[in-house]
Amino acid sequence: MKKTTLSVLAITAAFATHGAQADELSVVCGAEQDWCDLMANAFEAETGIDVALVRKSSGEILAQVRAEAGNPKIDVWWGGTGDPHLIAASEGLTEPSGVETGDLLGWAKNMADISKGKSVGIYAGALGIAYNADILADKGIEPPACWRDLTNPAYAGEIQVANPNSSGTAYTELATFVQLFGEDEAFRLLAEIGENVNSYTKSGSAPSKAAARGETGISIGFMHDMVKQASAGFPLKVVAPCEGTGYEVGGVSVIKGAKNPEAAKKWVEFALRADIQSRAPEVGSFQVPSNANASVAPESPKLESIKLIDYDFATYGAPETRERLLTRWDAEVKPKGN
Ligand code: G6P
Repeated sequence: MKKTTLSVLAITAAFATHGAQADELSVVCGAEQDWCDLMANAFEAETGIDVALVRKSSGEILAQVRAEAGNPKIDVWWGGTGDPHLIAASEGLTEPSGVETGDLLGWAKNMADISKGKSVGIYAGALGIAYNADILADKGIEPPACWRDLTNPAYAGEIQVANPNSSGTAYTELATFVQLFGEDEAFRLLAEIGENVNSYTKSGSAPSKAAARGETGISIGFMHDMVKQASAGFPLKVVAPCEGTGYEVGGVSVIKGAKNPEAAKKWVEFALRADIQSRAPEVGSFQVPSNANASVAPESPKLESIKLIDYDFATYGAPETRERLLTRWDAEVKPKGN
């Protein structure tokens, strides 16, 4: 009798644990909201696992993952720029998913190599400048062609860019300037450009949305976010800066101590599949997919035709580099009173 009771309890406990692991997944998403929603819906439809998803900017996600270390509410972190994924990996906040990366392009595997399998690349996209052609024409201002052009006083109050503390896009810009111009010159330029900036936004794609709608003349951000607006019919022109530019590798990472590790691993496998990555253009997400067999949308900016720097992910994805650069940004670039 006693034996039976114990077995029933054991079966009930096993079922409860298995049920929790198989049926739900908590995802924090760093890509655009509509792509996050497409992914969550497609995953639910295929697996029957309920997805609770929230969209945040990359720096905000890193802050949450740090704050919840040891007792995470999130199982998997999908999307957003690679540097904070690498920082979380080096701080032991994420763990290897063990998923095969055989079909992935070199830059996506590089992410896995640097993070010892804790983060894998899912997409890539280059940084650029966008301008609203109607606004600049109305004001009789020449469009910029280079990063240095953005210091021109003619653009006073016309430029919008995100804050690198919250935004991975803006951190990529900061790291790109340091790699292109050297650290001191990068901060001098960013402070000078800052004289023309009307607002530092929380999210990286907000400035290009604002430029598309005519709320600002010029934005700095990822070219694919600009192309999304242009392909929706807004008068937004995309510029690949003459000096060259940096790029992001968006990542996917499983959080250490995730409550639903099996479902998290399934999500990573799902997110790396060619057929799933090929669906991004349905919602205007024009990053280059990491799976070599995924289709690339004709709208996607062609990375091979852009002068790209050899972005040093190991250095700029290290906690001490980010800390140092953000402290300097706060002291030398951040507008007073903010
Ligand atoms: C947009 C882009 C993504 C990028 C993300 C970073 O959603 O489409 O490619 O990874 O911005 O967001 P954040 O707000 O951190 O700059």
